[in-house]
Amino acid sequence: MVFIVNTEVKTQRQKKTLNAILTRFPFCRDAMTTSPLLPALASRDWQSHPPYQAPGYKSTLTRGPQQPLVVVPSRLGEPSVPVFGLDGLRDIDRDLTRNARRNGEPLGERIRVVGRVLDTHGRPLPHTLVELWQANAAGRYVHKVDQHDAPLDPNFLGAGRCLTDTQGRYEFLTIKPGAYPWGNHPNAWRPQHLHFSLFGQAMPCRLVTQMYFPGDPLLAYDPIYLEVPEKARTSLVADFALEETREGFALGYVFDIVLRGAST
Ligand SMILES: [Fe+2]
Repeated sequence: MVFIVNTEVKTQRQKKTLNAILTRFPFCRDAMTTSPLLPALASRDWQSHPPYQAPGYKSTLTRGPQQPLVVVPSRLGEPSVPVFGLDGLRDIDRDLTRNARRNGEPLGERIRVVGRVLDTHGRPLPHTLVELWQANAAGRYVHKVDQHDAPLDPNFLGAGRCLTDTQGRYEFLTIKPGAYPWGNHPNAWRPQHLHFSLFGQAMPCRLVTQMYFPGDPLLAYDPIYLEVPEKARTSLVADFALEETREGFALGYVFDIVLRGAST
């Protein structure tokens, strides 16, 4: 559960709504005071982000903005901070090998994925919601649109979430996803990947991204990966880390994530 709280509450209606939220979820008051407003956000680093329109990635041509963006005055956009409802978050949500079991363990290779969420100055971002979704080991999502001829796993949903700790660290236990065809071009296959969504300290800091695995031969053919500027591309590939494995149980990968932060 995510609340969006605008800290510039002025009208009676806004005050009434905010009081109702704080009465029902008193921890929001703490979250508001521990989520300081950013003085000014750094501009988006276009040296690291893919373009809105990428010819190799066909659906961006219809989904991406066709016109120049309208810049929203910062006073409207930046005072709104995400505040999370703790009652909806359970520790098992970070364990995708257990959070959807019906009659056994999910099939596939267990992996641990750990990392830190940092701002552009390298400062850790605690209390940051990290959401993860993915295909199963056979390369199939639990979604009606996904009709890939591969089996679903009754014990795997492919969705998890957690909050970063005081040092900005997060951790997931999951199954290594399979590659899947996606119809973008002839014989198109997505590399193995995890999808991530994060909320930062203000709504403009939200990031939706993907994590890839080292050594995947499909990376060289994937337009989504290749549309990311070359200097930032490898930041999307996790590091295999023997020290993060669990002996006899799961391999370990490290994937740090940087969110847009204050300009200074
Ligand atoms: Fe995907």
